[in-house]
Amino acid sequence: MAKILIVYHSHSGNTEKMAEAIVEGARTIQDIEVEAKRYGSPWMLGDSDAILVGAPTYHHNMTHNTREFLEQVAFHSINLKDKVGAAFGSYGWSGEAPRLVLEIMKNKFEMQVIEPPLLIKYTPDQAGLEKCREFGKKIAKNLSS
Ligand SMILES: Cc1cc2nc3c(=O)[nH]c(=O)nc-3n(C[C@H](O)[C@H](O)[C@H](O)COP(=O)(O)O)c2cc1C
Repeated sequence: MAKILIVYHSHSGNTEKMAEAIVEGARTIQDIEVEAKRYGSPWMLGDSDAILVGAPTYHHNMTHNTREFLEQVAFHSINLKDKVGAAFGSYGWSGEAPRLVLEIMKNKFEMQVIEPPLLIKYTPDQAGLEKCREFGKKIAKNLSS
C-alpha cells in the first residue's frame, strides 16, 4: 500500500489546520496510508512514497524546526530520490517557506515535486480547508493510479 507522510511545524496552529484537512482529503482515496506528524524524524521518511512538508513563513523564511529537519535528512543521507514531494504552509504576506522547502526537495533531494506549493493566508477558512482537502486528495489519487 502506498504511503503519504505529512511532516509539519506550526506555531499558532494555522499550518496544523491545513495538515489536518490534507489528511482528510488524502484519506478519501482507498488503499493509501496517510500519517501526519508535528515533528518528524528523518528516519520516518524512508518507507513513504510521498512526503508533504508543512512550513509556515516567519521572517521571510522557514522556521528553525523545518530547517533543522531538512538538515538532518541531508546529514543522515536519507535517500528521497524520486519520491513525490510537496509543500504547504500558512503565511501572512510573503509566504517564502513552502517555496524554499520545495526547492530543497527538488534540487537537493532529487524528489519529484508537485508545483506550486499550497499557500493559505493566516487561518484557513472553509474555502481554504477545501483547497487543502483537494490537495491531499489529488496527491493520494496520483499515488494510487
Ligand atoms: C513574528 C512573526 C513573523 C512573521 N513573518 C512573516 C513573513 O516574513 N512572511 C509572511 O508571509 N508571514 C509572516 N508571518 C505570518 C505567519 O506566517 C502567519 O501568522 C501564519 O499563519 C503562521 O502559521 P502557523 O500558525 O502555522 O504558525 C509572521 C508572523 C509572526 C508572528
